[in-house]
Amino acid sequence: MSTKLSFALRRQFLSAFLMALLLTNLASVINAQKFEPNYDESKVPAYDLPPLWDDTTAAADDFAAAWDGRRLELLGLFAEQMYGQQPTEAFQVSCEKMESGESLNGKALRQQYQVNIETAAGKHSFDLLVYTPKLSEGAVPAFLGLNFYGNHTVAGDPEIRITKSWCRATADKGVVDNRATEAGRSTSALRWPIEMIVDAGYGVATVYCGDIDPDYDDNFQNGVHTLFPDHRPGPQAPDRWGTISAWAWGLSRALDCLSHNVDEVDGSRVVVIGHSRLGKTSLWAGATDERFAGAISNDSGCGGAALSRRAFGETVERINTSFPHWFCGNFKQYNRNENALPVDQHQLIALLAPRPVYVASASQDEWADPKGEFLAAKTASAVYEKLGSKPFALNAFPQPGEGALGTVSYHLREGEHDINTWDWERYLKFMQTEVDR
Ligand code: GCU
Repeated sequence: MSTKLSFALRRQFLSAFLMALLLTNLASVINAQKFEPNYDESKVPAYDLPPLWDDTTAAADDFAAAWDGRRLELLGLFAEQMYGQQPTEAFQVSCEKMESGESLNGKALRQQYQVNIETAAGKHSFDLLVYTPKLSEGAVPAFLGLNFYGNHTVAGDPEIRITKSWCRATADKGVVDNRATEAGRSTSALRWPIEMIVDAGYGVATVYCGDIDPDYDDNFQNGVHTLFPDHRPGPQAPDRWGTISAWAWGLSRALDCLSHNVDEVDGSRVVVIGHSRLGKTSLWAGATDERFAGAISNDSGCGGAALSRRAFGETVERINTSFPHWFCGNFKQYNRNENALPVDQHQLIALLAPRPVYVASASQDEWADPKGEFLAAKTASAVYEKLGSKPFALNAFPQPGEGALGTVSYHLREGEHDINTWDWERYLKFMQTEVDR
């Protein structure tokens, strides 16, 4: 072939390639522009929620026994249609203490563990950071939650180990080239009021979510997914576990460690907590693992506490498009088709019953549909009542700055999408009145 001809061919190839690139970009720009969230209550579509329980459960002499069966049925549906199935293959967990010391001027004990999970396919480890009150006698109830950017971001202690895992590029969290650096220390401390928690007599433990499974779409080739290559193999398996399910499973492994290796924490009184995507995770963790004494979902929104059928703010289609790795393949069938979902999020909250659950929203966080979160909690409370709890204390959607404590608790904080001291003050009361009794 002459040099001239091959040059012309290459040019043709290059322009075809550039055109394809342009079209793909254009398509995603159009796609992104096409989505207009609905923030108008009058435009919420008509919907019927799937029932919490069926007629047989309602007619049973022993509701609690009948609910156990219904609960398993719902759990199966959520795993199959939404979050993906967690593995049932054998694994081993070990918990190695890596560091401990005093913190907060001697008020707190800080401990760091490496949680190692082993299967026939390999080993995966993550760090667990634990604070407990120094002077407490015996094991204390504790909060356990994932964090977004690494354990070193939650407090200023220079001893906190810095994660080596992939981190989302965010300059103000000290992330450089998707890796955490010293500059990130304590940058999320406002979300983790450790001193306030320890002063109230409780412990708090955290794990970086990306240490369990990195938060990007890679067809589940990394994180804890790699430990179970034969579990729903191939990215096409429609009920393959998504990242939220993997994070929730990781929280259960952290609970293994807290229960068996951390003497200062009472493993039977650990409340799983999370904000936003990690609040979706705390609800799923509490639903799948009944050892959690309760769950707190802070501004968890779509795929968390908010009713999918309202399609208010973020929708099923939108979340499946922006974060295709969070849920399983089956969930994509419900894009713009929420009424076909065999479940909705009131049923997810009910899976916690009779254990205490707290759903919280923020007044300016419309993307997460505060009212949809409230309605899901209120509707779920019917199961709690049947199981012996007092009725849900709020009859109507509260004003910003209001809420009510109970076995099913709810509040609407004034302000934006976040978790702050105002929220935590209420979570501490919830711990005191509903868990630590
Ligand atoms: C995005 C996403 C939400 C999620 C939130 C977060 O806004 O759309 O579903 O809750 O990120 O985790 O911060």
